Formats: sequence, structure tokens, C-alpha cells
Amino acid sequence: MVVDDLSAGVRSRIGDATFVQLDLLSDDAAARLAEVLREHSVTSVIHFAALKAAGESVQQPVRYYRHNVGALVTVLEAMRSSDARGLVFSSSAAVYGDAALPLTEEAAPRPINPYGETKLVGEWLVAAAAHAHALSATSLRYFNVAGAGTPELGDTSANNLIPMAIERIAAGEAPRIFGDDYNTPDGTCIRDYIHVLDIAEAHLAALDDLTAGHRVYNVGTGVGSSVREILDLLIEASGAEFDPELTARRPGDPDVVVATVDRIRDELGWSARLTTRDAVESAWAAHLARR
Ligand SMILES: NC(=O)c1ccc[n+]([C@@H]2O[C@H](COP(=O)([O-])OP(=O)(O)OC[C@H]3O[C@@H](n4cnc5c(N)ncnc54)[C@H](O)[C@@H]3O)[C@@H](O)[C@H]2O)c1
Repeated sequence: MVVDDLSAGVRSRIGDATFVQLDLLSDDAAARLAEVLREHSVTSVIHFAALKAAGESVQQPVRYYRHNVGALVTVLEAMRSSDARGLVFSSSAAVYGDAALPLTEEAAPRPINPYGETKLVGEWLVAAAAHAHALSATSLRYFNVAGAGTPELGDTSANNLIPMAIERIAAGEAPRIFGDDYNTPDGTCIRDYIHVLDIAEAHLAALDDLTAGHRVYNVGTGVGSSVREILDLLIEASGAEFDPELTARRPGDPDVVVATVDRIRDELGWSARLTTRDAVESAWAAHLARR
């Protein structure tokens, strides 16, 4: 079953799963959610709901803490009042910030914006609650989520490189590169783009393997792609004939953010199956379907 306030979610995408519309920040949310969990005999929860625009979080830190930490508190309170003891928490590579490579789960997190901070605080809270209240919890640190599971399920928020570039191409404009003087082979930032279908599979693997306490896993491909490589793939998929437009660096973009993925492979038996090309092509197909 799905609980969502539809602030960003789309009702028609939920299909025929049981749906309850609930704002996790509303006054009686914990009690109402507990009732829903009990009524539907829920044993495990995947907590996705959050605000996720890193740049916006710098302007609105209080709102981000309220949404991301506050909603998690609600979920944990509701679980305490029900029989749900399993939790998978959507964390993020943003907890690493400008941590030094390699980004293993042991690397000391150094978030560089309030969004990343809220995810790190969320992990701490989940860990403490798991130990105090006998939960079986897993935090999944997603790297750069990309692509669409099916053409109808495209990403409608233009916060990330691929949706932003698609918007530009669709408007007849060249997609943008934000700086080409980074310490990387082609000078553009390198990230680990992980197909959303692989992310979904990682959640199933995590749910299947929940054990007492709290564990943390990177969810990435372990392979980096540069901004230029992504834009080349996208331009190819679109059939457009643009050269990317070079613009200034954005503040706070580390050179390279690529996951080390040994732990999730060894412990959960999960590895990404789809490629960056798959992700980019599926994002373009979703754009065409939306038009
Ligand atoms: N998309 C990414 O690249 C990425 C990367 C790393 C981590 N994450 C994390 O994964 C999670 C899901 O991300 P997404 O891209 O699917 O985001 P999304 O905005 O598409 O989904 C979040 C969902 O939560 C719902 N929601 C938000 N506030 C709510 C509230 N107060 N009460 C009830 N429902 C509420 C929204 O309606 C939406 O359906 C988030 O926690 C995000 O921080 C995403």
C-alpha cells in the first residue's frame, strides 16, 4: 500500500495499490499513519517522502529539516504504535558531500548542504530507533537516480542533469555544461548514474534481507560518467544536433562522486544491471511519451 500527500506524487501512477492520502507533517499524522499500518497489517515500511533539491535546501534549511527529519519522526512514531518493525530509508549520496574517495560506507560523511545533512541526521535517527525499539532497518544511499521504469513514469522535476538537459533540448536549446575545469579527464563533473529500475530492485533486496539493527548501503553502479558523456548520450538519443553550451561552474559541485558498491553486492547480492545509456535512453523515451 502507498501513503502519500500527492505534493509531488501523481495518483494515477500508483495503479491499483491501496492508497491513503496523508501529509506526514499534519498534526495527527503519526496517529493516523499508525492506524493505517495496523489496519493493513503492515510489517515493513519504505520511507521515500522527502524534499530533495540540494540547492533549494541552502535557501530553505528549516523547511528541509522539518520535512525530511519531521516526516521520518512521524513514520517512526507510527511504527512504534503498530507491528511494523522493518524499515528501508531513502538516504542519499549527498551525505558524502565532499568526502574523499573512495566512497565506501565507512567514509566519513561530510554533507555540504542542508539536504545532505537531513539525510545524515535521518540515518542517525533510524540507527538509534532501530537499536532502542528493536527495528530492522536499512538506509540506502542512492547515487544519481536516472531514467524511467516505463515511458509513462518519467521524472517530472527538472532538478537533475538529465531532466534539465531534456527540457533544454525540447525547447530547441543546447543543453548546458556547468564548468569544464574540474579535475577529471574531460574537465566536467563525474557522477554515478543509477537507473531507477535498479534502485527499485535494490529496495526489494533490502526488504528481503532486513535484520535486527541498522545497516547502510551505497546504491550505485560503481561506474562514473562525466556530464559531457551524459549529454552526448542524450543528444544522440534525441537525434538533435546540438553541441552542449558551456556555462560557469555551480558552487559546491565536487569533481567526482562515484559509489563503491562492494558491500551491497556481497551482503544483499544486488548489483546494478542497467547501463547509463539505458537510463538516458529511457529518460528520453519518457519525455517523448509525455509530449
Ligand atoms: N531522485 C534522486 O535522484 C534521489 C537521489 C538520492 C536520494 N533520493 C531520495 O529518494 C526519495 C524519493 O525521491 P524521489 O526522487 O522519488 O522524490 P519524489 O519527490 O518524486 O517523491 C517523494 C514523494 O513523497 C511525497 N511526499 C513529500 N512530502 C510528503 C509528506 N509530508 N507527506 C506525505 N508524502 C509526502 C511526494 O508527494 C512524493 O510522492 C527521497 O527521500 C529523496 O531524498 C532521491
